Amino acid sequence: MIPIEASAPAKVILFGEHAVVYGQPAIAVPVSSLRATATARPGDHTGLRIVASNLNQTTVIDSLSQSIDDALALTARLLLQRLDAPIPNLEITLRSQIPVASGLGSGAAITTALARALVEALDAKLDTAELNAIVYEVEKLHHGTPSGIDNTVIVYEQPVYFIRGNPIEHIHIAEPFTLLIADTGKPGLTRIAVGDVRTLYESQRERIQPMLDDIGNIVRRARQSIETGSIEQLGPLMSRNHALLQELTVSSPELDVLVQAALKAGAAGAKMSGGGRGGNMIALVSPESAETVSSALRSAGAVRVIETRVAPLPND
Ligand code: PMV
Repeated sequence: MIPIEASAPAKVILFGEHAVVYGQPAIAVPVSSLRATATARPGDHTGLRIVASNLNQTTVIDSLSQSIDDALALTARLLLQRLDAPIPNLEITLRSQIPVASGLGSGAAITTALARALVEALDAKLDTAELNAIVYEVEKLHHGTPSGIDNTVIVYEQPVYFIRGNPIEHIHIAEPFTLLIADTGKPGLTRIAVGDVRTLYESQRERIQPMLDDIGNIVRRARQSIETGSIEQLGPLMSRNHALLQELTVSSPELDVLVQAALKAGAAGAKMSGGGRGGNMIALVSPESAETVSSALRSAGAVRVIETRVAPLPND
């Protein structure tokens, strides 16, 4: 067997995080230039060894009934059960370019890459919807009650318009646009932020529900703008979405500083992205302003700035 390599991209949420948990739509796009990769080779031990090289961690699976408290072992077990396959004698090495705990979907991408490498190494078949369901199950370990947007955009590697529980809708990108993704350097605390929004929602539903509805309206308008190529409308929609996320208490001083710095340096719009309280923000820039906004973000404290182009898929 020659080594088998499989991979999956990072992702970024453009609009609708948090409100998506309450049934509102959200839009997310893959970031194909940042990837998690899994390489499978025949093992020299009995059983399945999964080596997470970034974490210096090795997981050995030699019994399908062993207790599963980590995401890698759970991925392998769910997959082998679904394929009705015994534990293979393989070593799978995982590598990832995706920063962890920053809202870029590192966990879902690693799970997806691992599952794909296993399927291929076993010479099996698994359709995309089934893979998505397995990655979703594993996401529950990280997030508790995830909406499913992360695994969906990562597994399908296409821009998605996501409504919890509904069939997946893919978005057509009429005109390409450029985003900067800037990292506050503080870990994002998705689980805590989601829990805090839940507490707010339960205690002040009459105040919070209209904000969630407003976010839903922003997302629907953003979809229209993206699908008709009216990119100039996206910036103000991002800024309004950010203001609502601030009211939901999921932004942070670091995120707000970066959002302000991006706007001041000429970004058309900016907002936090993902769970919040840390992690990343995104800024919409023209190709001409990208460099200036990027250095303004670094000066304002961003520890990493990634430029990504959201473009139509081939054949779309
Ligand atoms: O922190 P991330 O990028 O995994 O995003 C979480 C998105 C939320 O809407 C806050 C939660 C969810 O499950 O959709």
